[in-house]
Amino acid sequence: MATVPRETEDRDASPASQERKRELRFVVCGSVDDGKSTLLARLLRDSRTVLRDRPSAAERESRIRDTRGDGFDSVLPVDGLQAEPEQGAVLDVACRTFESDRRKFMAIDVPGHEQDTRTMVAAASNADLALLLVDARKGIPTRTRRHSHILSLMGIRQVILAVNKMDLVDYRKDAFSSLVDAYGPFARELGIKRVHAVPLSALTGENVFDRQDRAPWYDGPTLMELLETLEIDADGEQSPFRLPVRQVNRPNPEFRGFSGIVASGRIERGMPVVVCPSGETTAVEHIFGPAGELESAVAGQSITLVLADEIDVKPGDMIAGTDRPPEVADQFAAHLIWMDAQPMLPERSYRVRFAGTSEVGRVTDLVHRVDIDTMGRLAAKTLELNEIGYCKISLDRPVPFDSHGAIRRTGAFVLIDRSTDATAGAGMIGFALRRASNVVWQDLKTDKADRARAIGQKPCVLWLTGLSGAGKSTIADRLEQKLRALGKHTYVLDGDNVRHGLNRDLGFTDRDRVENIRRVSEVAKLMVDAGLIVIVSFISPFRSEREMARNLVEEGEFFEIFVDTPLDVCEARDPKGLYVKARRGEIPNFTGIDSPYEAPGDPDLRIDTTRQSAEQAAESVVQLLLGAKGPDY
Ligand code: ADX
Repeated sequence: MATVPRETEDRDASPASQERKRELRFVVCGSVDDGKSTLLARLLRDSRTVLRDRPSAAERESRIRDTRGDGFDSVLPVDGLQAEPEQGAVLDVACRTFESDRRKFMAIDVPGHEQDTRTMVAAASNADLALLLVDARKGIPTRTRRHSHILSLMGIRQVILAVNKMDLVDYRKDAFSSLVDAYGPFARELGIKRVHAVPLSALTGENVFDRQDRAPWYDGPTLMELLETLEIDADGEQSPFRLPVRQVNRPNPEFRGFSGIVASGRIERGMPVVVCPSGETTAVEHIFGPAGELESAVAGQSITLVLADEIDVKPGDMIAGTDRPPEVADQFAAHLIWMDAQPMLPERSYRVRFAGTSEVGRVTDLVHRVDIDTMGRLAAKTLELNEIGYCKISLDRPVPFDSHGAIRRTGAFVLIDRSTDATAGAGMIGFALRRASNVVWQDLKTDKADRARAIGQKPCVLWLTGLSGAGKSTIADRLEQKLRALGKHTYVLDGDNVRHGLNRDLGFTDRDRVENIRRVSEVAKLMVDAGLIVIVSFISPFRSEREMARNLVEEGEFFEIFVDTPLDVCEARDPKGLYVKARRGEIPNFTGIDSPYEAPGDPDLRIDTTRQSAEQAAESVVQLLLGAKGPDY
């Protein structure tokens, strides 16, 4: 019989005691109708040790602080999932902690909103296993199948199927068996390796803590016995050693240590290690914990390593065991769960945050979308809120990581929207991808400075953004004439013109506009490299892509010029007759009508075309350039 949990004064923090009482985190899935609240209440009441009952705002905040500071302790870097007030979406995940003689527990309660994939992801990313609650009188509901799909994607390999309300079916064995028979094969197909089924009654307490022998045919463990004894193996000692380096610790010239929280595995003094991405190898000379020197350390411990050789290690690097080192790559395939109201756009650049580091990256291919109810593969061009896709992601620089199947902590990432800082997606890495061909960067003898010097100017991008009909092309044209009169070498990239050639294949969906701007930014960059002053005249409606364009060239080479003409003025002018058509519904996705325009917050220059003529506007750009670059620009 299971030991009855008792209220404990035990605050013993010695490593042995911590080890013995490693907290079991389990996510509880099911609806109130299935008896979830009754079961949770019984677990908590009978254990009489509700140490904390949350989800208060304070708790959410504390977790945000935790994950940003040294106490990073979740499988996914989930802080962004916890609260996104700017989007009005607060995730309703309640964590309840209780304790028995044998173990500490954290029950992570997911409310029953079927569609909210985000909540499940936030909950499952912290869990060792899942407790799925079903009603003995019913079949396996779609919700349970849906939850199981997400759990399997999140790397949960072990579930407890709690068949509740057995009292309402007279504790009949066949009622229990039919549910177990329906769920078992389904779970196996998903890669859930172990399913522990318990017939119970949350109401009477049968098989929750102990047996009351109303179901004598069942001789398996009670729910509490399972919770107390199931093995917790996630990223434990058996996994390869990983230490994402948070900080270089150098209090005096004699001491240089590398600090972080062990993400997986075990480290001992003298063990060989490799530093990634550099690939340099050395051995561990000393291990320090908060209380002093250690012989060894395991996943979850906060440590500082001193290495045998003087090698270069930076925050964001990963120190790993040499037997099974991580992948170091700038491309990988991953499952991506979309969590933003703004859909995922391939080729938009996001910040990709891993357990120990972050890098700019983009989704280059959405291979397919996953139908979460059937696990079928669907063709898709984008992912909407709560949708799951399988995609390829490319990073600006190689980063160390693992496959999520091997190590959850170092195989997970989140995508951060660079303009709003919101967590837009959460991902699980499948495997590293190598570039299709061995493309290297060719160093040429002549460089940008040589080319620019030869034509006597400083190259740059003058990026004109604004609504259709705002006057961008007219200003661009005047501006080019003025610059040429000053002897400058220029080129105008105009949206309408580029769309006749290079970007002929693109339309006006958000996705196509992202690609439109990506390509023209790359062209502008090449022209800057050629030494030219490039005038770009594109609506370029999204802040994120304008920012990307700025980041492609060097500091001081990009000027964002907002041609600020109100929509009603553009519409009254309607030089191409497009607004009339758009209002009649003949042009879908028209900027300002049914497609957004995100005005620059802090442009380098704002032109008010209701007050300035094209001539004055062009002159103000020339003055901007003179002011910024001096007379020899
Ligand atoms: S952008 O949004 O992708 O930057 P771009 O500057 O290349 O747009 O092209 C805008 C031009 O395409 C407009 O000036 C207009 O002449 C034409 N156009 C045709 N359809 C649309 C549309 N749906 N939205 C905006 N412009 C459109």
